[in-house]
Amino acid sequence: MHICVIGSGYVGLVTASVFSDLGNDVICVDSSEKRVETLLSGECPIYEPRLPELLDRNRREGRLQFTTSTPFGVAPSEIVFICVGTPSLTNGQTDLSQVESAARDIANSLNGYKIIVNKSTVPVGTGDFVRRVIEEHRPNGKNFDVVSNPEFLREGQAVRDTLQPDRIVIGASSEKAANRMRELYRPLDCPVLVTDICSAEIIKYASNAFLATKISFINAVANLCEESGADVKAVAKGMGSDIRIGPHFLEAGLGYGGSCFPKDVDSLIHTSVELGIPFNILQQVAEENAVRVPRLAKRIIKRLGDDSGNSLKNKTIAILGLSFKPDTDDMREAKSIELCGLLLKAGAHIRAYDPVATDNARTILGEDGVTYCKSAYDAAEGADAAVFVTEWREFIQLDLHRLREALRQPIMFDGRNIYSPGEVSAAGIEYHCIGRGVFPPGGNP
Ligand SMILES: NC(=O)c1ccc[n+]([C@@H]2O[C@H](COP(=O)([O-])OP(=O)(O)OC[C@H]3O[C@@H](n4cnc5c(N)ncnc54)[C@H](O)[C@@H]3O)[C@@H](O)[C@H]2O)c1
Repeated sequence: MHICVIGSGYVGLVTASVFSDLGNDVICVDSSEKRVETLLSGECPIYEPRLPELLDRNRREGRLQFTTSTPFGVAPSEIVFICVGTPSLTNGQTDLSQVESAARDIANSLNGYKIIVNKSTVPVGTGDFVRRVIEEHRPNGKNFDVVSNPEFLREGQAVRDTLQPDRIVIGASSEKAANRMRELYRPLDCPVLVTDICSAEIIKYASNAFLATKISFINAVANLCEESGADVKAVAKGMGSDIRIGPHFLEAGLGYGGSCFPKDVDSLIHTSVELGIPFNILQQVAEENAVRVPRLAKRIIKRLGDDSGNSLKNKTIAILGLSFKPDTDDMREAKSIELCGLLLKAGAHIRAYDPVATDNARTILGEDGVTYCKSAYDAAEGADAAVFVTEWREFIQLDLHRLREALRQPIMFDGRNIYSPGEVSAAGIEYHCIGRGVFPPGGNP
């Protein structure tokens, strides 16, 4: 099939490269000249495992092109995916300006029947909105269908998720469009759920909101564990062994971040209020999430601060992990941003390390009070505590004795419960974690 993908970010690039790898001819459009130049030069503008190889192979074999021109992408294509950003406005509402602009550009480029597929995460009713925008701007008589095909990929494993999705959701108002979409996804071995457009749009938000709820729920349980002496890991294991609950998304920590969960939860809250049926549980989910980082910052300041307990003046903190989650360079809504902000405000100097997100982090955190380091050990050099913010795999294998030797004070705050208290304590490091208490150095492994 001939496909156009508008928006060459995390979702658009992965979608385009996987469809081209399945034998389709794909043209990727992006309004950013810089991004298209990077892609044309053979480079991958984002860090996503397996993506560079896919881009490279399909570009070389002539199935994948890049352009800033929407007409160039739309003209030969039967299916046009919209994969542009849908950030939040300050009131939680979704900013649909990128979607609107993409829809207008598509309308102006129509030269025959097209299926316009919304893959961006958009509030219920946006399918209708896109249809209206296209109707308003299309040349006379050019026919089209709008489809909602929400994306569920996870950054860090986006290629795998796109090739082996748990399910494909197709919201369509015409049998013709639904059948062509089924045809497109036929090579993937997974359940395909065909619904109306509104249901497909809500499936995406309800899924993300439910996962966010699980995260805030276990974090609230972690608070109970901290106060009562229980171990949240044991509690989560006990809960997750119940097949009605399941073990996933029950890791207590610093809460959800990233480019999706925070804005999608806010958007669904906003939609529910607009529809007159406030989704109160979600409000609590967002509130619990918002206190995770301040709670850890408070613990760090209490343990390391001066007599007043407020200041981290003359203290150095190693921040290990900057991206919002492992295996990505994405810093959108990363917990490290908020935590570094609070620690800097308290007067600390930060020594930061991330395996891939340092360049992106530098543009957000700046250089003032922050030293960017080459490794976890380098970051720990002379620091008064090591704080783990992102659970990168390479941190799991750290030599804790070497880490202790690098630190000025052997203290660790593990915001993701990466380690077992015994091993950290046995390495001579005081261990603070989430929902499991505090462990002095010198314990048994
Ligand atoms: N990133 C994820 O993990 C993920 C997962 C599922 C769903 N989503 C959703 O997918 C959508 C895209 O997310 P993303 O992370 O890929 O965003 P992104 O910011 O990485 O990419 C969006 C791209 O669209 C381009 N763009 C914006 N307006 C354009 C226009 N009018 N024409 C052409 N290009 C345009 C931007 O330059 C940018 O490169 C969002 O709605 C998001 O909520 C994201």
